[in-house]
Amino acid sequence: MTHQLCWLTQTLTDVPQNHDWLSEGERAILAGMRFPKRRNDWLLGRWTAKRAICARQSPGSSAFSSIEIRAAADGAPEAYLNGKPAEVSFSISHSKDQGFCAVSPPGLLIGCDLEFVEDRKDPFVEDYFIPEEIAFCRSVPGKEALADNLIWSAKESMLKALRQGLSRDTRSVHIRPDPWEEETSWNTWTGQCIETSRIFHGWWRFLDGYVYTLASDQRTHSPEQLLV
Ligand SMILES: CC(C)(COP(=O)(O)OP(=O)(O)OC[C@H]1O[C@@H](n2cnc3c(N)ncnc32)[C@H](O)[C@@H]1OP(=O)(O)O)[C@@H](O)C(=O)NCCC(=O)NCCS
Repeated sequence: MTHQLCWLTQTLTDVPQNHDWLSEGERAILAGMRFPKRRNDWLLGRWTAKRAICARQSPGSSAFSSIEIRAAADGAPEAYLNGKPAEVSFSISHSKDQGFCAVSPPGLLIGCDLEFVEDRKDPFVEDYFIPEEIAFCRSVPGKEALADNLIWSAKESMLKALRQGLSRDTRSVHIRPDPWEEETSWNTWTGQCIETSRIFHGWWRFLDGYVYTLASDQRTHSPEQLLV
């Protein structure tokens, strides 16, 4: 069976100024956050995730404040509805003022990430990529920045799906983008854990200066944008 991955982006200007949409627990956490950038990222991620989860379940069915997005011990986000684990898999990313959330049926391991496409300072790829990935990045003349950020973002998505993030060596996974025709459409990539050969299935696209990636431990249909 092939599953459906859904996605949603929101910007900082979409996030309501009031905090009525946060649960009591979330308001307590926000009150302890000192740094404006972290507050904004945290709010944007939670706003994007709540909108995505509600849009996928049944639009308008839940008050946003009855959903709580908690960080598990490993840092991965988990959703609770009225205090009980919600039947959903999801992942959060934020970059600049852009929030990105991927949602799928429960039971899938998924991860998402977005990166603003800009030149990475040397020796970024040498430090974080394996030789095959470096060779790929050098095989697309004129698109090096896109390729570098695509590989990096795909690694982050896969490491989020594994719930390990950057606590794991980025060179322990091998990202292979498939040949593509149109970079603004969803394209496929595969990620493999080098030690175990475990495979993750990925999607990527370039849009408005960002590269978006999604990873899943199971095959999925081309990602579907949620309408809110
Ligand atoms: C996960 C990680 C790669 C994200 O990096 P980033 O590019 O700076 O940030 P992004 O905006 O793309 O993603 C951030 C989101 O990833 C999610 N995330 C964090 N840790 C995660 C993990 N282990 N697994 C899956 N998702 C995770 C969170 O939802 C976070 O947003 P939030 O804190 O606002 O809820 C990075 O935060 C990381 O590796 N952290 C270290 C993990 C770790 O050591 N955790 C120890 C316990 S906290």
